[in-house]
Amino acid sequence: NEIVNRMEDYDIINIEHETLILVVTSTFGNGDPPENGESFAHSLYAIKMNQGLSMGADDLSMASSKSFIKMNSQTDSVAAERRFDRNDSLKGSQISDIMSDDNLGPLRNITFAVFALGSSAYPNFCAFGRYVDNLFGELGGERLMKLTCGDELAGQDQAFRSWASEIFQTACDSFCLDFDKNMADISAALKADTLSPESVRFLPVQAADDEVQGKRILCRLLLRYCHLLLKITCCILALSKLHNRKVNMYSLAEKVNLHEKDTSRVTIKVVLRKRLSSETPLSYQSGDHVGIMAENRVELVDKVLERLGNKPATDDEAVQLQLLQEKHTPMGVQKQWIPHERLPRSSLRGLFTRYLDITTPPRPNLFLYLMGCTEDTEEQERLSSLAKDSDVYEHWKQVYWPTLVTVLEQFPKVKPDATVLCTMLPLLQPRFYSVSSSPIAYNDELHLTVAVVTYKTKGGEGPTHYGVCSNYLNDIQIGTLVPCFVRSAVSFHLPTDTSRPMIMIGPGTGIAPFRGFWQERKILGNRKPGSRFGKMTLFFGCRTKEMILYRSELESLKKESILSDIFLALSREPSVKKTYVQDLLRREGDAVARQIMKEGGHVYVCGDCTMAEDVYQTLKSIVQERGMLNDAEVENYMLSLRDDNRYHEDIFG
Ligand code: 2AM
Repeated sequence: NEIVNRMEDYDIINIEHETLILVVTSTFGNGDPPENGESFAHSLYAIKMNQGLSMGADDLSMASSKSFIKMNSQTDSVAAERRFDRNDSLKGSQISDIMSDDNLGPLRNITFAVFALGSSAYPNFCAFGRYVDNLFGELGGERLMKLTCGDELAGQDQAFRSWASEIFQTACDSFCLDFDKNMADISAALKADTLSPESVRFLPVQAADDEVQGKRILCRLLLRYCHLLLKITCCILALSKLHNRKVNMYSLAEKVNLHEKDTSRVTIKVVLRKRLSSETPLSYQSGDHVGIMAENRVELVDKVLERLGNKPATDDEAVQLQLLQEKHTPMGVQKQWIPHERLPRSSLRGLFTRYLDITTPPRPNLFLYLMGCTEDTEEQERLSSLAKDSDVYEHWKQVYWPTLVTVLEQFPKVKPDATVLCTMLPLLQPRFYSVSSSPIAYNDELHLTVAVVTYKTKGGEGPTHYGVCSNYLNDIQIGTLVPCFVRSAVSFHLPTDTSRPMIMIGPGTGIAPFRGFWQERKILGNRKPGSRFGKMTLFFGCRTKEMILYRSELESLKKESILSDIFLALSREPSVKKTYVQDLLRREGDAVARQIMKEGGHVYVCGDCTMAEDVYQTLKSIVQERGMLNDAEVENYMLSLRDDNRYHEDIFG
C-alpha cells in the first residue's frame, strides 16, 4: 500500500482502514472529476448510496445506472450536479463491505483534508474537490483542516505550499508527533525540488528513446522500413510510456482554412489519417476528444538551447538523463547513477521539442534555482522577489504571460544547467480537441476544428505568443506524422433514442463535435430510410459572416433536412445588431421549451465556459417562464435534465 497514490491507483476497499487521508485534486470542465479520478468518484458515490439507502449489493447493481450527486457547496451557493455511473467501478459486494454498521458513517475513523485545484475562470470553481470534501464529511470523516482551493489564475503554487506546511503542522499536532523535527523535513522537501548540478548528468547512449525495445519489434517486421519506422516506433513507445496512453501516429492528410476571407482570427479543419491500411484505426465515437502531442516551436527551442550550460557534446546526440542516488547500506552510503524515471532517451533538442513544457509560465521555484545561475546581483534580487513574493510573481505573470524564453530574455546573465533544468520543467502535456467527424463516416480519419491561437502580452504591446498545439498543427506539412490518441467523452454522445430532438449550441469552435453528430445522422438516415429521427437544431455564433464555419456543408444539411434549423448569431458584423447564441435561444424560446419539456429533447453545449454558463442561465429562465415554475422548481428541473442525461456540456477555459 503506497503512501502517495494517484487517484486511479487507489484501492477504495482500503479506505475504512486509513487513519489520515489528504486529497489533492483538480476539477475538469464544469465540475467533473479529473480523468484519473473518475473511478474514485464513482466508488465514493457508491459508498454514499449504500450507506444512505441501506441498499444491499444486489439492489445497488440493479438500481438505475445513472444518478446524481449534488455537490452542496459549503463555501458558496453553487449546486453543481454531476453524474456518475454507479456500477462502473465497484462491485456490489465490495460496497457492502464498506457499509456503516451504525449511524456514525463508514469513514468515522478517518481524518482528512482536501486541497482543490481549479481555475476561477470556470463557474463551478474547484467543484470536484469540494464534492470530495463534503462527501468525506458526510460519511463521518473528521476534517483536519477546512477545504483549501488553489486558483490557477491566482497564486496556486503559493496556496499549495502554505497548505502543505500548515496541514503537516496540524497533522503532527493532531497525532501527537514531534512537530519540530518533522517540520524541518517537510520545509526542506518543499524548498528542495531543485537538484544540485553534481547529482544529475547526461550519459551518452547508443540508442535513442526506447530504441532497444523498438528494434526488437522492428526485427519481427523484417526491418522493412527500417530507419524511419524505428524512429516512429521509438517516439510512440516513449510518448505512450510517458503519458500512460496508447499513442498512435496519424498522418496529416488535409488542412483547410475555414474562414472565407483573411480575418483577424484563423480557424482550420485538420484531417489526420491512419498511416497503413494494415493498421487498426483508433476507435472513437462522435463527441469524444482527441489528444495531440505537439512539438514546441523551433525558434523557442533554439533560444533555450543556446543559453544552457552543462550540455551534452552536441544538442543532437542521444543521451539519457541520470540522477545520482544515495543508498544507505550497512557498509555506509553508496552512490549510484540511475536513469531519470520520466524522461526517455533522446537528444537534448528532442527533450526540449517533444517532452518538456517551455511555454507555460515558469513556477516560482524555478527562480530559486535561477538565482544561483547568475553572478549579477541585480538579477539575483529580482529573481528572489519573483520566487518569494507571490504578489510580485502574480503581477509579472499577468503582464508577460512569460514562457521560459521570456525569462531567459529578461535575465540575460542567467545560464542554467541543462541537466538541472530538464528535471525542473513540467512535461509537455497533450492538448485535447473535440473530434469533428463521425467514425461511421470516416473510420480511418480524425477531423479537428482548430482555432489557431496567437496573442500579444503586455496589454497588446508585448511580443506575440503562439498557442503550442494549434500553431504546430497549422505549421506542419501534409504527410507529417502526428502522435495522437482518443479520450472518451464522459457524457457527450448522440442520444440512444434517435427520435429525441437535439438542440446543439456551439459558437466558434464549439461547433466541432456537432459535425460528427450530423455526419452520423446523415448516414444513419440514408441507411434506414424509414426510421424516425428527432429534430436537430443548431445554434451557432461567430463575429462576422466570413467566419461562419462549414458554411456550405451547413447549407446542404439544411436543404437535405438533416438540420431542421440553423440559427446564426453574428456578434461583430457591421450593420447587424450584436447577437449571441443565447439571444437567439431566447427568441426561439417557445420551440426550445417545447422540445426540452414536452418532447424529451437533448441539449448540447460546447464552447468556452463563460458562454456555457450564460446559455445555462438563459435556458433556465426559458424553462421557468414557459413551465411557470418557481425558483426551487426550476432549479430541480434543470438538475433533473442532467440526471436524465439530457443536458450535455463540453466546455473549456
Ligand atoms: P465576441 O467575440 O464578439 O464577443 C465565437 O467566439 C462567438 O462567441 C463570437 O461571436 C463571440 O463574440 C461569441 N461570444 C463571446 N462571449 C460569449 C458569451 N458569453 N456567450 C455567447 N457568445 C459569446
